[in-house]
Amino acid sequence: MEALGVGGKREKKENAALNILVLGLGFVGLTTALGLAEKGNIVYGFDSDTSRNDTLLAGTVPFLEPGLEDALNRNLNETFFIQYDLAEVARKSDVIFICVGTPAGVDGETNLDYVYSALDSIIPVLAGDKFRVVVIKSTVPPSTTRDKIIPYLSEKGAIAAVVNNPEFLREGNCWNDFLYPDRIVCGASQEEAIQAMRNLYSSFNAPFYAVSLNTGEFIKYLSNTFLATLISYSNEMSIIAGTIGDIAVRDAFRILHKDKRWVDCSMQSYVYPGCGFGGYCLPKDLESMIFQAKKHHYKPQILQSVMDINISMPDSAVKKIINTSSPQQAIGILGLSFKPESDDVRDTPAAKIIHLLREHGYTNLKAYDPVANDAFASCYAFDHIEYCSSLDELCNKSDTIALVTAWPQFAAINRKFPDKQWIDCRYYLE
Ligand SMILES: NC(=O)c1ccc[n+]([C@@H]2O[C@H](COP(=O)([O-])OP(=O)(O)OC[C@H]3O[C@@H](n4cnc5c(N)ncnc54)[C@H](O)[C@@H]3O)[C@@H](O)[C@H]2O)c1
Repeated sequence: MEALGVGGKREKKENAALNILVLGLGFVGLTTALGLAEKGNIVYGFDSDTSRNDTLLAGTVPFLEPGLEDALNRNLNETFFIQYDLAEVARKSDVIFICVGTPAGVDGETNLDYVYSALDSIIPVLAGDKFRVVVIKSTVPPSTTRDKIIPYLSEKGAIAAVVNNPEFLREGNCWNDFLYPDRIVCGASQEEAIQAMRNLYSSFNAPFYAVSLNTGEFIKYLSNTFLATLISYSNEMSIIAGTIGDIAVRDAFRILHKDKRWVDCSMQSYVYPGCGFGGYCLPKDLESMIFQAKKHHYKPQILQSVMDINISMPDSAVKKIINTSSPQQAIGILGLSFKPESDDVRDTPAAKIIHLLREHGYTNLKAYDPVANDAFASCYAFDHIEYCSSLDELCNKSDTIALVTAWPQFAAINRKFPDKQWIDCRYYLE
């Protein structure tokens, strides 16, 4: 079986192609579906949001993710098929991936409703007529597969091997991260299922770790809470530096990165201060781990501090703005997505900063993001915001400008507009 490699290069697939169904076509699900299709498998994709299915069927990816739209158009109706008749494709499938969202509930507990509804949609076909693996790729708290999902399926008479397979891709780099993973983790308790997953991933050049079900889930939280800790550590150090004074925080961190142990290490971006981490995963996974720890009668100290520092960061950015401006002035917010190269605005610090500025009576706000203006405007109903269509327009219309997302095109913009008051929340300006 031949498969299209990156850039259209054909690569040989040793194993027989599998029929795969992917439920949930967001960042993780769509990337997984297309990645496995590119490797020569036959992949069916289904999202409960029918407008998303329609958009994909028209060859458009509904969010910004480099490489994904090309991959969609290479594979659509060749090896990747959008499906509306779930029962038919579920029946054909050897492997069914669950890639739906797992948001945080009010108290931080992970909401598994979407996972259960995805399982409910396939239960009628899990009849034991052939060997099938259900793969939980959504991030779920340790012990969920073992203590909740497997019992849930067997209570309903469904027959399938269930494994978890956490995903470590980074938004903005989904495609490359999926195709060139640094590790593949499979939490499983059945040898046959482990073997099936090994075969599925055999054409990926990465170590495959078969671990227990709980370990598989824990590794994902270990990763995200660690990254969150690095960010809050850096933010706390930047606050301490600010209280001491005469410390060039930007230089200090860049010099820290020259340590041999960090050189050329892409972790550097996490060891750098900013205005707090946002996005879909780090905040909710950190909250979930804190909830889990408390549920097991342990009061987490480091994780709680990581969370507390993160919550305080937008406030400290707003203090800097307030100290150098007045509510009547035009304040420009530069960057709305939670990170550069992405239009994801979920839990973005920009929303918290704007909310706080509104609370302090600021009513003349301008905003600009190279790609996320529309996503932000439809996600957050703020009044008194004018969205600018270019970087120059925002700078011309603002008295004080706060750099909130470190897009590369913002790096030297302060030089072009030296008369403006600049608040560099990301320690990024030259
Ligand atoms: N975004 C990331 O960078 C990332 C990285 C690693 C892991 N994860 C984890 O992967 C999971 C998915 O994250 P995401 O960012 O792709 O979420 P997302 O919100 O972008 O996508 C989830 C999709 O699932 C669909 N869905 C919900 N219920 C469904 C159902 N019953 N059947 C079919 N589709 C359904 C939604 O309509 C949505 O399109 C989460 O558990 C997340 O924590 C995310």
